[in-house]
Amino acid sequence: MVAVAILAAGRGTRMKSSLPKVLHPLGSKSLVERVLDSVADIKPSRVFAIVGYEAGRVRTALTDYATTHDLGYEVEFVEQTEQLGTGHAVQQLLPHLEGFGEELLVLNGDVPLLRPATIAQLLETHRSRGNGATILTAQLPDPTGYGRVFCVQSETGENDKFESIIEHRDCTPEQRQNARINAGIYCFDWPKLEKVLPTLNTNNDQGEYYITDAVNYLSPVTAMDVSDYQEIFGINDRVQLANAYGMLQQRKREELMRAGVLLIDPASVTIDDSVTVGAETVIEPQTHLRGSTTIGANCRIGPGSLIENSAIGDGVTAMYSVISDSSVADSSRIGPYAHLRGEAEIGANCRIGNFVEVKQSTIGDRTNAAHLSYLGNATLGEKVNIGAGTITANYDGANKHPTTIGDGSKTGSNSVLVAPIEIGKNVTIAAGSTITKDVEDDTLAIGRARQSVRKGWKLKSKPSE
Ligand code: UD1
Ligand code: CA
Repeated sequence: MVAVAILAAGRGTRMKSSLPKVLHPLGSKSLVERVLDSVADIKPSRVFAIVGYEAGRVRTALTDYATTHDLGYEVEFVEQTEQLGTGHAVQQLLPHLEGFGEELLVLNGDVPLLRPATIAQLLETHRSRGNGATILTAQLPDPTGYGRVFCVQSETGENDKFESIIEHRDCTPEQRQNARINAGIYCFDWPKLEKVLPTLNTNNDQGEYYITDAVNYLSPVTAMDVSDYQEIFGINDRVQLANAYGMLQQRKREELMRAGVLLIDPASVTIDDSVTVGAETVIEPQTHLRGSTTIGANCRIGPGSLIENSAIGDGVTAMYSVISDSSVADSSRIGPYAHLRGEAEIGANCRIGNFVEVKQSTIGDRTNAAHLSYLGNATLGEKVNIGAGTITANYDGANKHPTTIGDGSKTGSNSVLVAPIEIGKNVTIAAGSTITKDVEDDTLAIGRARQSVRKGWKLKSKPSE
């Protein structure tokens, strides 16, 4: 089985950041976490991260990621204390891969958009052609800065038989016209590469050990063009980081639209690649879906909603609302202007909205809280009606206390339920009540001053007037 090396030792000076480049976030994951994910499908036997700049920090971040995600492999760290070039980085593997008889795949920690299918295809091409090395190449509209790859026709009739690779700085003006570039991603026959690595030298303009020099001694070598050149896009600065995010977003939007999701104004929404959305759901403008969010089918989400780490059922609407770490069951209507957070669990066919906040509460099916409420640490049964302005007073300044409201109960407008408190089933709370004691089933509870009326009463006027 194949081994993988991820080059991640560079500092990334152009990011102008104290954070190592490969740890910069791109959506929900860092650059190098995306690279870790991209090799899971080929089931590598060993995965090495070559670390250098801020090695401890990179190691901690990747170990955390590997333990919390089911990658199917462990990450081994190899330290490259001085960064003397891409060839030098791969040389660091020599003590670790002694006697290893298969392929080594070399990836870059700062090339986060490479698709798993492309990696699989590179490996497959390498094996079927019996290569010593296979280089991933791309035809770029602007190849400036990249190493250029020169090929001739192979026995397959394709222009893929490797002839030479020349770094941009060493190219003649004519050679620079060649738009076929080295993506810096390779598949090597390790037993062959192992013999060549110690012979690399620094006889070049930069005085570095170049992995590209090794390719010349590994015949047969073929180049494989990536079909979508955006995949090999490397991140060197924050402009490229933002562009990569745009590409990732475009991919996600297209994936969803092809799967039957309607995006009214695709450019105005952001959707993490970890999010799933069911068919015939409509995503309205200015909507943002983040983290481990799932949205069912036939929903209407937005305009103007943010949903993160939440599970939304089928047929739900969520207009101008913020939903985090929560769930909403089928056919419920959320918003406009609702805030569900901290494990709010909303049942089916509920209505929560018009300035309602629900925190760490469970709301039964067909229950409504339609106007101006705060429900915190509350458990509501089914078919409860929360009147406008009802508040659960759950906090005594030190601790949070629970409120429960049984099936079929109604709270009048502007009622305050002082927790801890239990309201039974089919209870009616009169409007304007402050309820401090538990209420039994089938009862009316009134907790407010009686209205008094003084007939003929007038405001005293000031003597001067
Ligand atoms: C390299 C290729 C070039 C190719 C380009 C694609 C060489 C000599 N040239 O150039 O043909 O077009 O990538 O992006 O390989 N790294 C280490 N340790 C080191 C040096 C680099 O880990 O000592 C890592 C970097 O962090 C980076 C990757 O290797 O992730 C590529 O290194 P970089 O210096 O960017 O290579 P280029 O000069 O761009
Ligand atoms: Ca580079």
